[in-house]
Amino acid sequence: MNSSYNKLVQNLEYLKLKQMMIHLDETIDFMTNNQLSFTDTLIKLTDYEIDMKEVNMVKSMVKVGAFPHLKEIKDFDFDFQPSINKQQILDFTTLRFLEQKENIVFLGTSGVGKTHLATSIGIAAAKKRTSTYFIKCNDLIMNLKKAKLENRLETRLKHYAKYKLLIIDEIGYLPIDAEDAKLFFQLIDLRYEQKSTILTTNASFRTWGDIFQDTKIANAILDRVLHHATVVNIIGDSYRLKDHFDKDNMSELALTKTVKFFRSYGLKCEKKLVEEWLNATSTTKDSSHQVGDDDLYEFNDWCRMKGTAYEEGIDDQTKIARLLEEVNRLKSEIAVLKKEKEQLEDRLGVTPF
Ligand SMILES: Nc1ncnc2c1ncn2[C@@H]1O[C@H](COP(=O)(O)OP(=O)(O)OP(=O)(O)O)[C@@H](O)[C@H]1O
Ligand SMILES: [Mg+2]
Repeated sequence: MNSSYNKLVQNLEYLKLKQMMIHLDETIDFMTNNQLSFTDTLIKLTDYEIDMKEVNMVKSMVKVGAFPHLKEIKDFDFDFQPSINKQQILDFTTLRFLEQKENIVFLGTSGVGKTHLATSIGIAAAKKRTSTYFIKCNDLIMNLKKAKLENRLETRLKHYAKYKLLIIDEIGYLPIDAEDAKLFFQLIDLRYEQKSTILTTNASFRTWGDIFQDTKIANAILDRVLHHATVVNIIGDSYRLKDHFDKDNMSELALTKTVKFFRSYGLKCEKKLVEEWLNATSTTKDSSHQVGDDDLYEFNDWCRMKGTAYEEGIDDQTKIARLLEEVNRLKSEIAVLKKEKEQLEDRLGVTPF
């Protein structure tokens, strides 16, 4: 038994069936405890190998997809972008549109989530082992142009035409000259009604004539893209600027609230000084913070310490410089006091002992 067990391990190793090797002992135990048949035991053991192959296959499909990041639908905050119909996007991730050879166009200004959504759908497709590829429009055109120069345009076009899902990101960000527009048209034409394409753009279709620098070609492209397509027009704020807006709004609100409170206590505080204090303590205060008496004391202390060696948040170098300043100030104060004392002693005729 022992020697045949060892032989089996060797065989699995030789055949590079790592998962079967890892799970061999537990499968033998399971078989013995549950009186599993030989066939069922083999099924159980080979399933481990198949599961791992599936996982690796999905991983490599996603890798081959050349996505700019691995953000998925679960990472998308639909509340932030209410103009988007969540159900519609979720429906795209079921990949029904691929079966109908339909296209999707994400249209909207910068930062509204076009690339994120296109990538999410692409990843969903790659995970279901659909051949998917992500490319920026400019790179795509550069590659086609290069292929044309090298006399291999047809092969390159066929290469891009074969993907079941092609994502072309950022149409209209850079101008495309009329010759290059023709190359782009050829690809769109090859994919028309054969394969699905997702496009993202920040340029309204009206302006595509300018982008492709040829109205006829632009119209021919648009005609084919939009014939069987869903256009998702995203109207909203940029997610990239979200934090900046929030921060600005919050600090403005907190500032107004705090100044009002301090003044209600008769404190003649400058708005600028309060702003500086709020910024210095920004980690603990935001718009939801309720201003109270403690803040008044804290602000007073902060004002007292401001400019001294005991001001919060200063670096060691500044602290040393300020301590030296303080020492010098105290030294000259001592000198003045000494002088005053001597003058008084002189006047009184007191002899120092
Ligand atoms: N609603 C959202 N929820 C979560 N993250 C978002 C959302 N919208 C955008 N993002 C994130 O914000 C960043 C910008 O989004 P994205 O790249 O998709 O914008 P875009 O519309 O393609 O902009 P551009 O036109 O400039 O390319 C990304 O990191 C993206 O993951
Ligand atoms: Mg983008």
